[in-house]
Amino acid sequence: MNILILGSGGREHTFAWKLAQSNKLSKLFVAPGNAGTEKIATNIPIGVNDFEAIKKLVLKENIQLVMVGPEDPLVNGIHDFFLGDQELKNVAVIGPEKLAATLEGSKEFAKEFMMRHEIPTAQYKSFTADTVEDGFKFLEELNPPFVLKADGLAAGKGVVILNDLNEAKVELKSMLVDEKFGAASATVVIEEFLDGIELSVFVLTDGDSYKVLPTAKDYKRIGEGDTGLNTGGMGAISPVPFASKDFMDKIEQRIVKPTVEGLKKDKMPYKGFIFIGLIKVGDDPKVIEYNVRMGDPETEVVLPRIQNDLVELLQAVADQKLSEIDLQLDDRTATTVMTVSGGYPGSYEKGKEITGIDSITESLVFHAGTTLKDGKVVTNGGRVMAITSFGTDFKSALAQSYKNVEKLSFEGMNYRKDLGFDL
Ligand code: AMP
Ligand code: GLY
Repeated sequence: MNILILGSGGREHTFAWKLAQSNKLSKLFVAPGNAGTEKIATNIPIGVNDFEAIKKLVLKENIQLVMVGPEDPLVNGIHDFFLGDQELKNVAVIGPEKLAATLEGSKEFAKEFMMRHEIPTAQYKSFTADTVEDGFKFLEELNPPFVLKADGLAAGKGVVILNDLNEAKVELKSMLVDEKFGAASATVVIEEFLDGIELSVFVLTDGDSYKVLPTAKDYKRIGEGDTGLNTGGMGAISPVPFASKDFMDKIEQRIVKPTVEGLKKDKMPYKGFIFIGLIKVGDDPKVIEYNVRMGDPETEVVLPRIQNDLVELLQAVADQKLSEIDLQLDDRTATTVMTVSGGYPGSYEKGKEITGIDSITESLVFHAGTTLKDGKVVTNGGRVMAITSFGTDFKSALAQSYKNVEKLSFEGMNYRKDLGFDL
């Protein structure tokens, strides 16, 4: 089978690495890809939202399955584009159709979905510029901290948590009236603050049955001790040590099942990965958000723990035969440490040569923001490379990742040295 992966991050390199292990794979393409995917697949320089160029590529290379990495093309309706095209309608697309992708594209839509299907989440109300005064009143009724969320996609920056009531009012006005996040904050969801530790659970569904994939925890802040600005993710651990069997049963019964059933009841076709962001409040899981794709860098620890042939797994999703698959997981813990460019998540320079990659033999190296220049691997983004290792527990896996991160070098290289500090 010929497969196309859309995207260019560590997530996509990990998918390429895993798919390349299958003897069911013929040709693998990645658009646009990075220096890591270039070694194991054919990179094609087209954007993930250029549907017409993707169509040409799929027809030219006889691609039978498209694995969509990031949320953007899904929210923009790439799956519907394929289904609506005579020449593409039989090509499998892994990723939900546009309506279900709204679970990530609109926080209000996701909250309404959870309310409708009685899925545990924070209490909330949503407001627009016309109802900003009601928003102020609602804030007065709540206890701090105040959680304000731009409804739409805001590149991970749309959630603001404030302790001071007046600051929260100023922020609400700036989001709604001054369009701080543009159209994304034309609606703002204000919700109850949930106090607890976060984890993510990943689900693969064919729209009918589902498999619960390994849990993971990522580290979003740039600074040690979870301080400083938010990033795309500085590292991840899987499984999450506090996700006991009992707790996982609660997640499956209260959240995963009603989510998949809810998609069916609401007639929202979904063939793909569901990434459920959770907070453990006391002993109970509550949903913070849905993403309609895999996480990055969570993929770098989740996929290596799946022992099944990934081509078979994705084919089963496409054919709605996932129930026939027996999911096999590696019991060991996987950790990944993300190296980033100096200055990230603020401004940073690109084009720095990366050395030491080939000396890493006991860990997996997944490229994120890298490219080839004159035969050399150079930096090409904020998050540069993720180093994944296995261990009997997260401490031994992390020790291995850190030992190998030190073999890498590029000007300005930075990474968090305290992953797992909260576990
Ligand atoms: P989101 O984009 O919805 O995942 O939110 C970003 C981050 O804000 C989450 O990873 C949490 O750390 C935090 N957050 C979101 N909603 C809440 C909430 N209701 N209570 C506490 N923290 C939250
Ligand atoms: N690591 C968080 C995300 O992929 O959204």
